[in-house]
Amino acid sequence: MTVNRLRPRRSCLAVPGSNPRFLEKAQGLPADQVFLDLEDACAPLVKESARHNIVDALNNGDWGNKTKVVRVNDWTTHWTYRDVITVVEGAGPNLDCIMLPKVQTAEQVKALDLLLTQIEKTMGFEVGKIGIEAQIENAKGLINVDAIAEASPRLETIIFGPADFMASINMKSLVVGEQPPGYDADAYHYILMRILMAARANDLQAIDGPYLQIRNQEGYKAVARRAAALGFDGKWVLHPDQVAAANEIFSPSQEDYDHAELILDAYDWCTSEAGGAKGSAMLGDEMIDEASRKMALVIAGKGRAAGM
Ligand code: GLV
Ligand code: MG
Repeated sequence: MTVNRLRPRRSCLAVPGSNPRFLEKAQGLPADQVFLDLEDACAPLVKESARHNIVDALNNGDWGNKTKVVRVNDWTTHWTYRDVITVVEGAGPNLDCIMLPKVQTAEQVKALDLLLTQIEKTMGFEVGKIGIEAQIENAKGLINVDAIAEASPRLETIIFGPADFMASINMKSLVVGEQPPGYDADAYHYILMRILMAARANDLQAIDGPYLQIRNQEGYKAVARRAAALGFDGKWVLHPDQVAAANEIFSPSQEDYDHAELILDAYDWCTSEAGGAKGSAMLGDEMIDEASRKMALVIAGKGRAAGM
């Protein structure tokens, strides 16, 4: 069985599982991914009913071709196993991934993998189909991110959770994603690159987490552009207004996309017999070779996935 784990995720919309109105509305928004939340967007008293809202929304909603994810509670709580069992038994065939928050060790990912396998076998679902998204949200998770990223073949993405992360390392800022006052460089660079390297070394996607100032579009775009520039595949959106920005920022510009396709065509031609079977060629003033082809493939791949 082959599952395409590289699903579209430029915009990953957070939807509280406790709110049936939001669960309904999210279906009509142009986000690449939705994640129906049982964790921090759900108060403890409504977590149980939220599980059932989510099962109902997954089974009876019209989600088009969105990537459908449920975020369960983390393993240090007493909710995780019941979240997974209720949601996967109830709606497994209509679910793409489980998102596991506050991951600290590879074992936590392996435990979820085992639980998913048992449920899939018991229910007669395709074994291994449901993917895992791991959120890195504290120092221990970041220190262990390399092992976490290779803990299970079900893994699809590593996600940076900036709000919990900043709190966990005592960073002196209250605005998630913004630089802490008093520090001149980029306080996120190390964290983002660490996550990106672990993801890429294991062919996983890397996703940036939320920007909480939902009325500040420019702030959202600046933080999204920073992650996109490094190579991240997408970012969370907490509000419908952020969806279009994420889709645009995590797609290549038309100009870059067209240029990438030109490089690929030129390289194909120069390496072909008809083109002289050469290893490099000129495209205007630019020399292109196998490394240029790889760089062009990244941009062209993102553009093709975005339907350009
Ligand atoms: C997301 O879960 C975050 O903590 O930023
Ligand atoms: Mg969090």
